[in-house]
Amino acid sequence: MAKVLVLYYSTYGHIEQMANALAEGARAAGATVDIKRVPETVPEDIARNGHFKLDQPAPVATVNELPDYDAIVIGAPTRYGRMPSQMAAFLDQTGGLWAKGALNGKVGAAFTSTATQHGGQETTLFSIVTNLLHFGMVVVGLPYSFAGQMTLDEITGCSPYGASTIAGGQGQRQPSGNELDGARHQGELVAKTAIKLFG
Ligand SMILES: Cc1cc2nc3c(=O)[nH]c(=O)nc-3n(C[C@H](O)[C@H](O)[C@H](O)COP(=O)(O)O)c2cc1C
Repeated sequence: MAKVLVLYYSTYGHIEQMANALAEGARAAGATVDIKRVPETVPEDIARNGHFKLDQPAPVATVNELPDYDAIVIGAPTRYGRMPSQMAAFLDQTGGLWAKGALNGKVGAAFTSTATQHGGQETTLFSIVTNLLHFGMVVVGLPYSFAGQMTLDEITGCSPYGASTIAGGQGQRQPSGNELDGARHQGELVAKTAIKLFG
């Protein structure tokens, strides 16, 4: 059975919720799914004072386990239009895997969150996708088979490059039903692609 890793970083829990939805979609399509997060690098007292969501049940991933998966989906909130240092610090430890081509031909995908509607969703997704392509991965986006990304009835995240949510300037907005559906849809497509490639 195809093995999917949903690997995420989330400061305030928006990406955590999107990760759970993405995993739901991948499981529904028949894959075995693990949800893991990357280590927090901010000192604990600063994280507590900053009201970071520190009670995230997902286990912390190690770089060496990445080759165990057929598909790796990376989710991270934006930092100035690109992925956060926590995720970059994790990925920057993969030089040995890259040198061996250990992730070549596996399935990859990206999802994100921003405070504002035009605060860098697509550039953040591409900062992740760029990394996936350097790994030699086959990238699955969020095609228009997820019609919810075209709605004009509400403000919404999600684009052809990946699922996304809009958190609001104070993190006050939670992922909408439409955005969670987009994450589920992308998870389903990742799993179906991995199953086609790896059984
Ligand atoms: C240092 C920093 C930089 C940020 N830069 C942006 C930005 O460029 N555009 C934006 O819309 N939101 C920005 N944000 C807001 C985060 O993206 C937002 O808190 C996040 O999407 C919420 O997701 P989470 O709950 O999973 O952490 C920034 C937040 C921080 C702390």
